[in-house]
Amino acid sequence: MTSGIKGFDEMIGGGFWPGSVVLVRGAPGTGKTLMGLQFLVHGAMKHNEPGLLISFEEFPDSLYRDAEALGWNLKELESSGKLHQMFTSPKVFLASLQSPEARLNQLILDANIRRLVLDSITHFDRLTDDVQELRRIYASVANGLRREGVTAMLLGEEGRAEYRRADKGGLSFIVDTIVLLRYVEIESAMQRAIVVLKMRGSDHAKEIRRYDIGPGGLTVLDVFEGREGLLSGIPYRALP
Ligand SMILES: Nc1ncnc2c1ncn2[C@@H]1O[C@H](COP(=O)(O)OP(=O)(O)OP(=O)(O)O)[C@@H](O)[C@H]1O
Ligand SMILES: [Mg+2]
Repeated sequence: MTSGIKGFDEMIGGGFWPGSVVLVRGAPGTGKTLMGLQFLVHGAMKHNEPGLLISFEEFPDSLYRDAEALGWNLKELESSGKLHQMFTSPKVFLASLQSPEARLNQLILDANIRRLVLDSITHFDRLTDDVQELRRIYASVANGLRREGVTAMLLGEEGRAEYRRADKGGLSFIVDTIVLLRYVEIESAMQRAIVVLKMRGSDHAKEIRRYDIGPGGLTVLDVFEGREGLLSGIPYRALP
């Protein structure tokens, strides 16, 4: 399942495995929502694969404007039935994965949803303080989505302080693929970095690449050459 992100599909050996569960983790503003949208818009427009965006927070009008600036007319895709949105709560979403007659399952069947984006998986953290319980919740989300037969992208929020405990509940072990979006500060400028941390069943790219957001969405650029410590957030020039 191609993402439509120039330079990124090559990093993942051509595309995501159909039916897999992908986690996209990144700090606020790194472009997680846009990456999810691009995956849906590309599927809808280029492969005639209807997409569903599930959100736990109402999308602001600015999202439509941002999308428009990138060249995506979300309203048009929605009215042609190729893009669907669902606002719900983590609790309702969890319950509906377990009941075939729920609105979610009906929509997936009726609209022939092939691609699904969940914005964001971090909302499930607030359901419980118990790590074991959280692990069970994550597993039922991932397995529920696998049962639905969709290729799913879960967006995960990650702040600096959360970096170490980002894997509370072992989400990294449950998903098939992990993509990390990061800001790196180089010579007093913020740059965006993307890396594939894991991809089951694929010899994915291991390098850290630069990416940009602009017309057309995300574009993956060159490898950060001669830089060490990019993922720690403290990059420095590697000694020759
Ligand atoms: N037209 C555009 N041109 C260039 N950059 C853009 C454009 N529209 C949005 N952006 C960039 O995209 C970023 C927002 O992306 P997005 O909303 O996907 O981030 P996010 O990771 O989902 O953030 P959050 O964690 O707050 O939800 C902004 O920081 C902005 O820099
Ligand atoms: Mg977002």
